[in-house]
Amino acid sequence: MKNVVFLVAAGLLAGCAAVATAQNAEGEPAAQAGPPPMPQPVTMAQRPDATGGEALYVEYCAMCHTANGMGTGLLARRMDTPLLEDRDNLAAPFVVIAARNGIGNMPAIPRGEVSDEDLQAIAEYLAAGPHGGDE
Ligand code: HEC
Repeated sequence: MKNVVFLVAAGLLAGCAAVATAQNAEGEPAAQAGPPPMPQPVTMAQRPDATGGEALYVEYCAMCHTANGMGTGLLARRMDTPLLEDRDNLAAPFVVIAARNGIGNMPAIPRGEVSDEDLQAIAEYLAAGPHGGDE
């Protein structure tokens, strides 16, 4: 078993080396190529027509819960649907409790930051999902 693990690791390393060589062959030094551009965070600029719970969600939650967000990344480890807006199984009371108390690596969101009324609107927006979209 240990040998298998070693062979797999060696194979991965060899693969990386091959990729690096390929990039160099194209005349583009790997050091300057850099990573691909990061997906842009979703802000109201991308959702100018959002109102109510959706607008509040974009304001308070989207920086962590849209593509490339910390919440999306961590939820992808335990959820088939990591984007909260794509979920069809989020109950509003669960969203409120998760936000107020924090859950896992998500910090608690206090009333001073998001009022009860606003959080309720966000929770109802998410509970009415899925809202589709790819962000
Ligand atoms: C600072 C980043 C951050 C912000 C802001 C944030 N979240 Fe989260 N959220 C997370 C992370 C990270 C997780 C995953 C926690 C884990 O699994 O460790 C999460 C998980 C959740 C979950 C649990 C989903 C599940 O099925 O387990 C809900 C619900 C949730 N967030 C709602 C919200 C709402 C509503 C807001 C806005 C009011 C919000 N979050 C703002 C980071 C954030």
